[in-house]
Formats: sequence, C-alpha cells, structure tokens
Amino acid sequence: MIETAVIENSLDVYAIRQHFPVLNRQVKGKPLVYFDNAATTQKPQVVIDALVNYYTGYNANIHRGIHTLAEEATAAFEATRDTVQQFINAASREQIIFTKGTSEGINLVAQTWGRQNIKAGDEIIISSMEHHSNIVPWYILCQEKGAVLKFIPINEDGELLVDEFEKLLSNKTRVVSIAHVSNALGTINQVKKIIAEAHKAGAVVLIDGAQSSVHLDIDVQDMDADFFAFSSHKLYGPTGVGVLYGKKHLLENMPVYQGGGEMIKEVYFDKIIYNDLPYKFEAGTPNIADTIAFKAALDFTKAIGKEKIRRHENELLSYATSNLEQVPGLKIIGRAKQKISVISFVIDKIHPQDIGILLDNRGVAVRTGHHCAQPLMDCYRIPGTTRASFALYNTKEEIDALLTGLHKAIKLLA
Ligand SMILES: Cc1ncc(COP(=O)(O)O)c(C=O)c1O
Repeated sequence: MIETAVIENSLDVYAIRQHFPVLNRQVKGKPLVYFDNAATTQKPQVVIDALVNYYTGYNANIHRGIHTLAEEATAAFEATRDTVQQFINAASREQIIFTKGTSEGINLVAQTWGRQNIKAGDEIIISSMEHHSNIVPWYILCQEKGAVLKFIPINEDGELLVDEFEKLLSNKTRVVSIAHVSNALGTINQVKKIIAEAHKAGAVVLIDGAQSSVHLDIDVQDMDADFFAFSSHKLYGPTGVGVLYGKKHLLENMPVYQGGGEMIKEVYFDKIIYNDLPYKFEAGTPNIADTIAFKAALDFTKAIGKEKIRRHENELLSYATSNLEQVPGLKIIGRAKQKISVISFVIDKIHPQDIGILLDNRGVAVRTGHHCAQPLMDCYRIPGTTRASFALYNTKEEIDALLTGLHKAIKLLA
C-alpha cells in the first residue's frame, strides 16, 4: 500500500521516489536521472506487485470461466474499467474500451467510424503538432476514401492558431483530431473551445490524450469529446494497455473493428451477432495482467493527488526553463503560455543526438530526435530537439545534473 500519510500535505518527492525501484539504479556509474517521461514513465512498486500477484495468484482467462481463478481475474480486470470511468468522468463503463494504447484507439476510430462515414471530398482536420499516431491513421483513411487532410498551423511559441482553425472548418469537415497536449512542445491545447467550434460545423472530435491524461484532470463529459484516447504506460502503468472512450451513440453505431472471441454474442454458419459495448471492440484475450496493473497505477496517482503532482511538476518546469535560458546557445522550442512539464531545446552547432549521448554518459536520460512529430519539426525547420520531460518523482537536483551535463557538452562540442 502507498503510504498516504507521508504524502498527505505536500508532495514529498524523496518519499515518492522510494516507490520506484528503478530510480535506485546507476547508469554509466552515475545515479539515473530519468527525464524521458513523455516517452514512458517509470512504474511504482504497486504496479509491479499487481503484475506479480496476478501471475502468481490468479492467472486465468477472463469472462468465460466459472472457476474461482477466472472469476477473480475477471473481477480485477473489470475493476480497472470502473476506475478508468471515474478517472475521465465517463458517463458509463460501457464507453471504456481497452486497447493496446493511444495509437490503437485512434486507428480503431479511423478504421470503423472513419470507414463508415468518410467519403471522397470530405475533410479531416488535425494540427501541425500531432504525433505520427494522430496523423498516419487519418492519412491512410484519406488515401482510401479520397478525403482531404488539413493541418492547423501554429505560431512560433508552439500554440495552435485557433482563428486559422476556424477558417479551416466548413460543412466538408467530418473529423477534427487533436492532441490535448503536444508531446514535443508541452503545449496544452484549448480543446474545449476546439471541440465546441468543430461541433458547430457538424464534425466529430477525437482528442489524443496520450500526454494530457497524466498531467491534467480529464473530464470527457465537460470537454464534450466524442472520442478520447490514452495510454497506460504514460501514466505510471504498464505498456500494452490503452483506453478509447467514445460517446455511446457513436460507439453503438460503429461497425466492429477486429473479429475474434469476446466481440461476438452468437456465431452461426450463416450469421454472426456481435456483442454489446464495450466487448464489441475487444476481440480475443486482452492484456489481462497489464490492464489489472493499470488500476494500481491510477490508484497510486489518485492517492497522491493530481493537483499536488501538477504543482510539483510546474515548479520543475519553471526551475528548468529559467536555468536552461542561461545556457549559451540554447533555444527552447515551444514556449506556449499553457504548458505541461516538457522542455524541448536546440543548442547552436550541436546535434541533439550528440547531446543525448553525452548526457547518457552522465546517467541523464533525455529523448532526442523528431519525437514522432516530423511535420512539427518541419515547421521549425529543424531535424529534431533534445527533450527533457519531468514526472512526479523528478527533483531540482536532477535538473542541476542536466545543466552540468549540458555545460560540459557545450565545452566539448560547440
Ligand atoms: C501525443 C501522443 N499521441 C500518441 C502517442 C502514441 O502513444 P502510444 O505509443 O502509447 O500508442 C504518443 C506517444 O508518445 C503521444 O505522445
């Protein structure tokens, strides 16, 4: 159990760190500084324990078995659905569909709702700051249907130009699919406004919550999103599990995605009756262990409190931003007024990959490259950035280690 008493009043980052065993390791003889949280977060012991407990205590396939192990596994698996429903304030548990991750959620919508509803000449609007997972599924659909993909431009600070978005909207717009938060820049997009405008034009809106779900409070009903997709592994949970939320009438009318066990009610030689929501979209044996452990991750962050986590991460963001600004030749890419704790930067005359290697030699893990957002890099006319992304267990001392590493890299390479 997480020691809620320790972290009741303020976020005691040193107590929190004790819950993450990997943070005790060394890399290249130095204490690990893990700043690649936007790619995936580290896992607390409660999540690891939940995985071990399932495999050692009640490993069984779910839903169909009547024996004790199957019933225990089913109850634990379905309990995650209830926790996710509360986590995003969905109206009902039937609207929570388990997927492999955000990418699969977006592909599911493109391949089911999209294939059913998009025709030649229709328009799909995404933005210039999307992750490839929110570009490629729509590109494939547009290629197949003869539809047109449009991109909302951004300003130099990495904020969406909402006025330009409004100009792109028309009666041809069928889908608007936008990241709630940019993985490469940290920008928080004004999704409520975007959704409202898109709805006025009669479009359906998907929000890519891969980066927002860990930092922001998510209320899909208040936001009025038609679809919302996110991944467990960016939320201190295991890899291989994600969630697609959808409005009930949309999910009910969508054709099935993949075929297999669980997504059917009855199968005959000449006809098939598909299952009800959410199982209609969950073909085959799901990722049982990881889905069960995802609940442990959600309970863990809930016990600490998102507000408290946010405050801590914002402090790290301002500390890192003001100190990085002092580094000679360093330019921060993405200076939106509303940001989560992600900082991308470039340094004059040094390739991001060289920075990444030199930092790794000092135990500091950052991400370098295009961050699966190549069109965004084209907007800035750069091949990539170095990105440090902070989580609830990071400290100012770790940011100091990053700064020392950068100064050394500049001395060596610039
Ligand atoms: C904004 C955004 N969208 C989508 C994805 C894809 O998530 P996943 O790889 O978990 O499917 C990511 C992953 O980095 C992301 O940052």
